[in-house]
Amino acid sequence: MSGLNINDVSMTFELPNGGSVEALKNINLNIQKGELVSVLGPSGCGKTTLLNILAGFLAPTDGIIELNGELVKKPSSERGMVFQQGALFEWMNVSKNIGFGPKMKGTPQLEIDKKVTELLDIVGLKDFADKMIYEMSGGMQQRVALARCLANDPDVILMDEPLGALDALTREKMQSLVLDIWKKTGKTIILITHSVEEALLLGERLIVMAPRPGRIHKEYNLPFAELGVGADLREVKRHKKFGPTRDEILNMIWNMEEEIMGRAEN
Ligand SMILES: Nc1ncnc2c1ncn2[C@@H]1O[C@H](COP(=O)(O)OP(=O)(O)O)[C@@H](O)[C@H]1O
Ligand SMILES: [Mg+2]
Repeated sequence: MSGLNINDVSMTFELPNGGSVEALKNINLNIQKGELVSVLGPSGCGKTTLLNILAGFLAPTDGIIELNGELVKKPSSERGMVFQQGALFEWMNVSKNIGFGPKMKGTPQLEIDKKVTELLDIVGLKDFADKMIYEMSGGMQQRVALARCLANDPDVILMDEPLGALDALTREKMQSLVLDIWKKTGKTIILITHSVEEALLLGERLIVMAPRPGRIHKEYNLPFAELGVGADLREVKRHKKFGPTRDEILNMIWNMEEEIMGRAEN
């Protein structure tokens, strides 16, 4: 079977005090090659746990994950991860960061150089090849992180709130870049976000998760990501379905959080 197959995945964490947390319960999801999926949900609903399982950093307590029919058991360059921040090598320049994966694989230097040049162009950092990471702004660092991930030519790109630490304007530009990369590379992308607007813009499929136990609550198929490719995202937000869908999802998450607070107070 092709694509990413999440089959009845559950994850329970045992706590030192003898209790346990059902971080995920019976997650089923089939993601086709080239799909752009956003995952949204209140804090603690298991988004990061799910991504870590997909990456192979964590083994689920139940269920299996398959990528193109192969069981996912450990991390692999076919599943690249982009973190919120701080995962770059500070002591290397931009080019070396981007070329790191191919170099580890023993790719010839000429080929690495060609790839790095191409990726610098894709992420809009042509003139920054020799800069050190600490010389770059947060937004530029996330561009490097994206390029570094792409350099491994993964089948699936996993992103855990990759734009969460950026200021509003930079974030908007990066949202466009994610759409651009999705279209240019045809990669499967799964992006976690706290922002309802971002989930709407960056998900042709938007998965809303609910907490305790972490599960899939609702799924939307949306036109906005496709409309946003190469377009002004503010224009996309004016689409007649954008506001009502945003409000519906905001209410949904608001109610979940109310329920959590109510339970916590009892
Ligand atoms: N290593 C762990 N040990 C114990 N509990 C954990 C661990 N990782 C996550 N959890 C718990 O699992 C639940 C889901 O966490 P997480 O996946 O980080 O949620 P999200 O990313 O949606 O905020 C939370 O209740 C969290 O406290
Ligand atoms: Mg998280």
